Amino acid sequence: MALPPPSSSAPLFELSGIEREFTLGQTLIRALRGIDLTIGRGEFVAIWGPSGSGKSTLLNLLGLIDAPTRGRITFDGENVLALSDNALSDRRNHKVGYVFQSFNLVPVLTALENVMLPLQIQGVPSAQAQQRARTWLGKVGLSAFEGFRPDRLSGGQRQRVAIARALAGEPQLLIADEPTANLDSRTSHEVIDLIEQLNRETGVTCIFTTHDPRLLGRVPRQLRLEDGLISEDRYQDTAREVHA
Ligand SMILES: Nc1ncnc2c1ncn2[C@@H]1O[C@H](COP(=O)(O)OP(=O)(O)OP(=O)(O)O)[C@@H](O)[C@H]1O
Ligand SMILES: [Mg+2]
Repeated sequence: MALPPPSSSAPLFELSGIEREFTLGQTLIRALRGIDLTIGRGEFVAIWGPSGSGKSTLLNLLGLIDAPTRGRITFDGENVLALSDNALSDRRNHKVGYVFQSFNLVPVLTALENVMLPLQIQGVPSAQAQQRARTWLGKVGLSAFEGFRPDRLSGGQRQRVAIARALAGEPQLLIADEPTANLDSRTSHEVIDLIEQLNRETGVTCIFTTHDPRLLGRVPRQLRLEDGLISEDRYQDTAREVHA
């Protein structure tokens, strides 16, 4: 009999039969109506589709922020629905980095301090947190801006700080819900290209949502959601595979 594969090569996510319902007054909203999905380690995935199709609902499940009404989710070898609240918040703190459309930086802290913050919450000593935050600001091209507060940074720069903050703790997964919604078209492409580059360089699994198909050009895996179901799960050859 063949040995099971080592856990590190097992998929990062396995979802089966996922449904998520909300009740609004008397109305039952079936936001997700039966999702089966496997996501491997190191993948770069876009979840796209029209408004109301369930993108954020699915991303919140993948980010361990919400639980399904029915179905099963395995993340990094663990049955997510069996984890205690404490265990869930531990996984969120150590395994997942989050980027939001509104950047969510702390306004009174500098770019460097914003990136340091989650590391300090994780218990990383200050000097080490500062060094790591500097490295990550460098990776997103913002070394010269480390002393700036968010109000002195452009939208694209703020999102770069948010990406550095999300990745500085070296999570296994980066989750970004409409990370480009507040950015112009050129800056949006730059932000997606940056995430793609960091995914390639560090191997962190990245999953983001967008309703803009123009941003999918360099995204190897594209999941289209329509009305709570995956209507298309497409892999495309991207330049990076040619150069790999
Ligand atoms: N907390 C909630 N309570 C009630 N209904 C909700 C809740 N969250 C989402 N929904 C509903 O679930 C459906 C899917 O919503 P979701 O936010 O996942 O869509 P989306 O694809 O992210 O849309 P958008 O592109 O506008 O962000 C919608 O009908 C929405 O109104
Ligand atoms: Mg949404």
